Amino acid sequence: MSTDLLLPGSLEGRTAVVTGASSGIGEATAERLAALGARVAVLARRKDRLDALAERIRAAGGDVLVLPTDVTSREQVAAAAEAVERAWGGADLVFANAGVQLISEIDALQVADWDAQIDLNIKGVMHTIEAFVRPLEAAAAAGRPADLVTTSSIAATRVLEKFSVYSGTKAYISHLTRLLRTELGRKGVRVATVEPGMVDTELPDHVTDPDASRLMADLLREIDCLQPADVAETVAFVAAVPRHVNLTEITILPTGQAV
Ligand SMILES: NC(=O)c1ccc[n+]([C@@H]2O[C@H](COP(=O)([O-])OP(=O)(O)OC[C@H]3O[C@@H](n4cnc5c(N)ncnc54)[C@H](OP(=O)(O)O)[C@@H]3O)[C@@H](O)[C@H]2O)c1
Repeated sequence: MSTDLLLPGSLEGRTAVVTGASSGIGEATAERLAALGARVAVLARRKDRLDALAERIRAAGGDVLVLPTDVTSREQVAAAAEAVERAWGGADLVFANAGVQLISEIDALQVADWDAQIDLNIKGVMHTIEAFVRPLEAAAAAGRPADLVTTSSIAATRVLEKFSVYSGTKAYISHLTRLLRTELGRKGVRVATVEPGMVDTELPDHVTDPDASRLMADLLREIDCLQPADVAETVAFVAAVPRHVNLTEITILPTGQAV
């Protein structure tokens, strides 16, 4: 395997779609994929943030399509897929990354938070798969690389108090990767998931439980957390390896994170 995998132009000719591209991991990944030569469609709800990202990508010479999309809406994701198809032909690198973490004790019955996590972390990913699986299969059938990459979490495998629903959604995503490979792998579509530990993003800002929020803020202070660019580099590497290589489940932790 070549060691020169991540050079300017390494992802030339690839058509990428990144969900949750308005901040954090998705934003950094969209920018990195574009810097490596991919055309990138950026999806999230905050158009102003997507526009600012697009401006940076264009200023660096990249090609970008801003598609404000709520991925909990099957119709909106389908419309985004059609827009990509019209602009560039089908996508061949899909990063289904949008997600939210709303941790709380189960008997606090924060049912709106349960629903929000299930709707985005599970159903949002399924809508993305529904909209893009055929273009991915078509790219692979044409002999091109095709990647479906999701963002799971270390929470998928760790047993942490208050994390039940969030961890459950991420366990779904990690196991989904294994299951999808049984069908898509033999069609030439690589399926991968990244399972990050603590990354310095906007994720903790949405937590409604004050204790849980404090716990995450303390962790962010105590350890040298991952930066979004660390995860972006991992996703870019997953996409840049030769077609016959499928990195599947990639755990990426801050060196100092013990649990
Ligand atoms: N940060 C961590 O420590 C960590 C660790 C493990 C896994 N993760 C996972 O990493 C992924 C990205 O999170 P992040 O850490 O980068 O946090 P973030 O900065 O909060 O990013 C979340 C992204 O998801 C988007 N999003 C939220 N609701 C959406 C919706 N309904 N439709 C479309 N996009 C939506 C947000 O954009 P809009 O609000 O503009 O829609 C934003 O771009 C998530 O799946 C998260 O679970 C994070």
